[in-house]
Amino acid sequence: MITDLWYKNAVIYCLSVGTFMDANGDGIGDFAGLERRLDYLQGLGVTAVWLMPFQPSPKRDGGYDISDYYGVDPAYGSLGDFVAFTHAAKQRGLRVLIDLVVNHTSDRHPWFQEARKDPDSPYRDWYVWSKEKPATADEGMVFPGVQKTTWTWDAQAKAYYFHRFFDFQPDLNTANPAVMAEILKIMGFWIQLGVSGFRMDAVPFVIAQKGAGLKGEPREQFDMLRDFREFLQWRKGDAIILAEANILPKQDLDYFGDDADRMHMMFNFQVNQATFYALAAHDARPLAKAIARTKPRPLSCQWGTFLRNHDELDLGRLTDKQRALVFEKFGPEKGMQLYDRGIRRRLAPMLDGDPRRIRLAYALMFALPGTPVLRYGDEIGMGDDLALKERDCARTPMQWTSEAHGGFTVSDRPVMPVIDHGPYGFRHINVAQQRHEQDSLLSWMQSVIRMRKEAPEIGWGEVTALETGRNAVLALRYDWRNNAVLCVHNLDPGPIEVSVETGVPEPEGHLLVDLLTGQRSEADAHGRHCLCLEGYGYHWFRVGGLDAPLRRAPA
Ligand code: NOJ
Repeated sequence: MITDLWYKNAVIYCLSVGTFMDANGDGIGDFAGLERRLDYLQGLGVTAVWLMPFQPSPKRDGGYDISDYYGVDPAYGSLGDFVAFTHAAKQRGLRVLIDLVVNHTSDRHPWFQEARKDPDSPYRDWYVWSKEKPATADEGMVFPGVQKTTWTWDAQAKAYYFHRFFDFQPDLNTANPAVMAEILKIMGFWIQLGVSGFRMDAVPFVIAQKGAGLKGEPREQFDMLRDFREFLQWRKGDAIILAEANILPKQDLDYFGDDADRMHMMFNFQVNQATFYALAAHDARPLAKAIARTKPRPLSCQWGTFLRNHDELDLGRLTDKQRALVFEKFGPEKGMQLYDRGIRRRLAPMLDGDPRRIRLAYALMFALPGTPVLRYGDEIGMGDDLALKERDCARTPMQWTSEAHGGFTVSDRPVMPVIDHGPYGFRHINVAQQRHEQDSLLSWMQSVIRMRKEAPEIGWGEVTALETGRNAVLALRYDWRNNAVLCVHNLDPGPIEVSVETGVPEPEGHLLVDLLTGQRSEADAHGRHCLCLEGYGYHWFRVGGLDAPLRRAPA
């Protein structure tokens, strides 16, 4: 029923333990602090929490360089604290997803240390080596500018090793069965400790063929995805994998698998980028196209929809013209951009802190086909600190109160500086203040999340973009089990009136009731609804009235 396949209609909140809440006063967020904030998260209405890597790590890439897969970094607490946290989350009905970073390890990981030291070590073949510098060494960098090569000489090993990301992140040789077995063991370990699944990092690189002698483009080994899934399902029937796979549109379906036997979920990067273009250009058409292109996913699979995450906003899939416009509108200064293809800002400053635009952007995100993934701090409109390097600018600590360091820590040395100046400083933007204001972004976010939960059609249903006659208006109808929801968004700053035919037969199609305000719209004699949208306005309607789902039998 509706609650089976929980991920089809979850509301996921992602956070990094180290910058969320510090309980022991050492300046670093920890599991004990996170546990104390679970009631806040439950009150916000989210149903799952995705934690960025928290395992022991030199943290040269925000923890995406792990040196022990079976532990908790002591800065965040102990394994015991982790289990106490997953238990407390479960008691509140919250699921926990964790990052699974197995394309590469840290170069400090004992496996790599062994591998480089001894050519006869069994760990040697856990990584990817070459005696000669491969001809492709200056190709395929993920961080162009800060990363110069994908093959680095290791004096101790007397060989080059392959690293898709930074040189301190040697790639694991996933084609080695022992490595695959270890990855499954890691998954099994955390599943046993209470997690409901994984956000799998860099999936296309995990499954790509790796090695110096490859001819042409490395092929993906999709069977690996099936192996991951199968193992997971054997261990825990309802656990899932949410794949980070920023790939070409024509490959998306390969990651779900024709028989829905690979990844359960994938982030929808296409729709993400088209959304930012739509917001910048006040033009919904390319977004409607991206939605149509990504529509044919297997029913039991799901898109993860998002606006911002902990990385830069990647605009690599847009045309040059589209990308130029998004840069111009949302990240015009060099210091706001990263790797020539992305913007490193948080959402609120990109939208000039304009509450109407921020609310429209989120209403739109929650109305997109898939399961919404919200980034910590965005529910209160946190800003960024462009003085911090690279992606750190949008990874500052959560702003809880107007007390010192935003109530994140009592220490005078927070792990990252809390934003303390300008309009996004913690004295202006914090949870404590917004929870008492009815009209705050936080209160609004709570009601939108509730509204999203009341519209399971969005997670499950068939989406259709309706003709509105206006490029700035996106009207999406979702049909599921004989019920329909219609979400209409105006991307233009000015008010717009549109005439819409729901496409649902009488009598239901002739009555629309606004899910937020309860306002009704009755169709005219031609079966059309005349809808007035304010500038950046939006309305979500239940077709046929609020109790329509109770009256109608499932299809
Ligand atoms: C993707 C992660 O989102 C990013 O933060 C990280 O730097 C790379 N993968 C490497 O793990």
